[in-house]
Amino acid sequence: MGLLLLLTSSLLSNYFHPGIAVDMKQLFTIRNITLSIEPSNNVTRDTDVTLRCKASVSSTGDQVLNREYTIYKDSNIVYTKSSSTSEDLLYPLPKARVSNIGRYKCKINIEDRQMTSEAEKLTVTGMSNPVLRLNKSEISEGEEVTATCTAHGETGSIIFYINEGSKIIQEERVNSDQLEVKIHFGVGIHMIHCSYIVLMAPETFKSERSNTATVSVKEHNIRPVLEISPQSKIYEGDHLNVLCTIRGFPKSYGTVRLYLNHGDRLLGTGNTEVNHSLVALAKDPGDFECKLEMGRISKVDTKTVSVMELFSKPTLTITPSEIFQNEFMTLTCRSEIYVSERLSTEELTYNLEPDDSGLTKRSPGVYTGYALLDNANYTCVAKAKGIMKFSETLTVRPKVSVSVPKISVDGKVVLGQPFKIRCHSENGSLPINYTLQKGHEQLKTTSIELPTQQALFTVTIAKPEEIREYKCKAKNNHRPASSSEGLVAAVIEPLTNLTLTVIPPLSEISEGDHLYLICGTKGTPPVTFRWYRSGRKQPLYTTTSDSNNTAYQVPSLSKHHSGRYHCEAVNHANNVIHSEMVNIEVRLALWKKALIGGVCLLVALVLVAVGLLYFKSKRGRETYSPSTQLLRMVRTAVSVWSDRPPEAANDEESSAVSSEPDVEYTEVVHPQPVDTARGAPDHHDYGSVAYAELQGEQPEISHHPPYVNSYQDLPVPVD
Ligand SMILES: *[C@@H]1O[C@H](CO)[C@@H](O)[C@H](O)[C@H]1NC(C)=O
Ligand SMILES: *[C@@H]1O[C@H](CO)[C@@H](O)[C@H](O)[C@H]1NC(C)=O
Ligand SMILES: *[C@@H]1O[C@H](CO)[C@@H](O)[C@H](O)[C@H]1NC(C)=O
Ligand SMILES: *[C@@H]1O[C@H](CO)[C@@H](O)[C@H](O)[C@H]1NC(C)=O
Repeated sequence: MGLLLLLTSSLLSNYFHPGIAVDMKQLFTIRNITLSIEPSNNVTRDTDVTLRCKASVSSTGDQVLNREYTIYKDSNIVYTKSSSTSEDLLYPLPKARVSNIGRYKCKINIEDRQMTSEAEKLTVTGMSNPVLRLNKSEISEGEEVTATCTAHGETGSIIFYINEGSKIIQEERVNSDQLEVKIHFGVGIHMIHCSYIVLMAPETFKSERSNTATVSVKEHNIRPVLEISPQSKIYEGDHLNVLCTIRGFPKSYGTVRLYLNHGDRLLGTGNTEVNHSLVALAKDPGDFECKLEMGRISKVDTKTVSVMELFSKPTLTITPSEIFQNEFMTLTCRSEIYVSERLSTEELTYNLEPDDSGLTKRSPGVYTGYALLDNANYTCVAKAKGIMKFSETLTVRPKVSVSVPKISVDGKVVLGQPFKIRCHSENGSLPINYTLQKGHEQLKTTSIELPTQQALFTVTIAKPEEIREYKCKAKNNHRPASSSEGLVAAVIEPLTNLTLTVIPPLSEISEGDHLYLICGTKGTPPVTFRWYRSGRKQPLYTTTSDSNNTAYQVPSLSKHHSGRYHCEAVNHANNVIHSEMVNIEVRLALWKKALIGGVCLLVALVLVAVGLLYFKSKRGRETYSPSTQLLRMVRTAVSVWSDRPPEAANDEESSAVSSEPDVEYTEVVHPQPVDTARGAPDHHDYGSVAYAELQGEQPEISHHPPYVNSYQDLPVPVD
């Protein structure tokens, strides 16, 4: 029956609380959990503190559920306990110390259900004062003292410090409230104290200073003694006796040991003495040290020995200081200083290295011979009383004598303009002095010190012949300077005196003539000439000529060739010069003048004849026709005119062959008045003139200049 009831209740509880109830036997819920600190959250040290963890759990049934408690301090578990009672959990912290400071929490766990309390902070104030004790207050040098520093009752992780004044002489971390260390002290009175800190990351708590304890350390009677003989006037090569011994009576604190040092070298050791003898050397450091070690005691005695040089380090010198290949030289090896009372000159010997230098020994330390072609290294050694001293290495670098210089120009030489002369010797050790001479006059000297430098001199000449007067001299040693040949170079004379000569003479230029415009100048060819006609930018013609005179031809002049002409010339001196303007006026052809005269005469004759006839008829004689007579006379005149220019046969025919410029050209110069008299059509005349002008733009097409000029580069026609 009871079993049945329990089963029913269990089923019911499952039905009504499906999410909470886990236990088949008993239902429960954790209502609350708190942590409290007794007697207070803020206590002084040595207070007995209790943490109380109180959990409220409601359950069906009377059976006490098994509870698991966990106490946390700053998230670390410090305590766990299982309990099967409903009483509070108590966690004692007897005699609380600063190491107990922290935030505490309590957690309860019942059958996998748990609850954690709020955190409570425990503060403990006050730290115990450290106490320092020494087991002895008076000791002898080398003895130890046991020092004990106590932080009574403190817990946790503690670092102890033992100080002498402000200097920490011992420092140690322990997990107890006491530190015991053994300390060595030097001779004298020492006042020491200690302190500690409790490590509570992230915080630390520092204690007060302890009491001050005093220890006095007495010096031992024992000490090392260093003796060196001789005591003064020590020269290199002398024998030195060095003795390291003990004075005083040791109480035995272990074995006594002596060490004899010379600089970094340990010369010897011993228990009661070290006896050492050596040859003094000037180059060695003169510090000797006798050191005594006994247990932890160590004492030294030092002495400095100054060793004087018997002879100085030799120097190797060469004469002459500047040596050229195959020249005679002398090498001298000398120790400048030597102690004459200790050393005779015979004792001091010299040797040259290498032995096979090929030089001859003339006297002690003096060697002569001829310089080689290449560099050579020499060293010398001075020896006396078993001491050897080496000189610095002397490197002999034989120089190369300068070769005969060459003179040349840098760029082009233009008369009256500055140009550069270069002097250069193929061979020769630097520095080389180059001197420029004109005739016997030395103009300038320049010193070339680097292979990249050049000896360049700037000069100006007024006459072409002057150029040969320039010479160079090169010198890099005591020998006389070698001189170059005279300078040979093409000299460009700038152009001057450009004249434009006209043939035929200006006053005689008339239609049909061939006109020559001759440009002449002074200066160095090749010359480029250009002819211009006023009012046109483009030159009429351009040519480059190796002659100083070049002509430009205008064949078969006509009236429209009248105008102002000039020419220009330029050569490698790059100065452009202009001629004077020449005014060319093309006059009527002579035969035209004559023709006009003739026609005028004819007209006059006709008028006279008409007058005469008229006069006769007035007198009554009407026998023959005067008009017939007149007609005949006119005809005669016209036929005379038609025959006059034999080459000008017919106007129509000339037009037909107008592709031949010469013919057409000639045709163009028909005198206008006669045309009118013959009743020639006006349009034909205009056509001819237009053509002529067209040709006049490029008359050079049809001819070659008469002089040397044979350049075929015809200028582009200008329009
Ligand atoms: C704790 O108490 C001491 C005196 O008892 C007081 O000086 C200190 O300020 C208190 N500290 C805290 C955190 O309450
Ligand atoms: C003091 O301590 C040192 C070092 O531990 C020890 O050698 C010495 O015997 C001690 N002296 C006394 C009087 O205890
Ligand atoms: C040290 O040795 C030298 C010779 O090596 C000797 O003359 C000298 O008497 C010795 N000194 C002592 C104190 O033994
Ligand atoms: C001379 O000595 C220098 C270094 O001291 C070395 O560099 C050089 O090559 C030597 N010259 C000859 C010719 O031996």
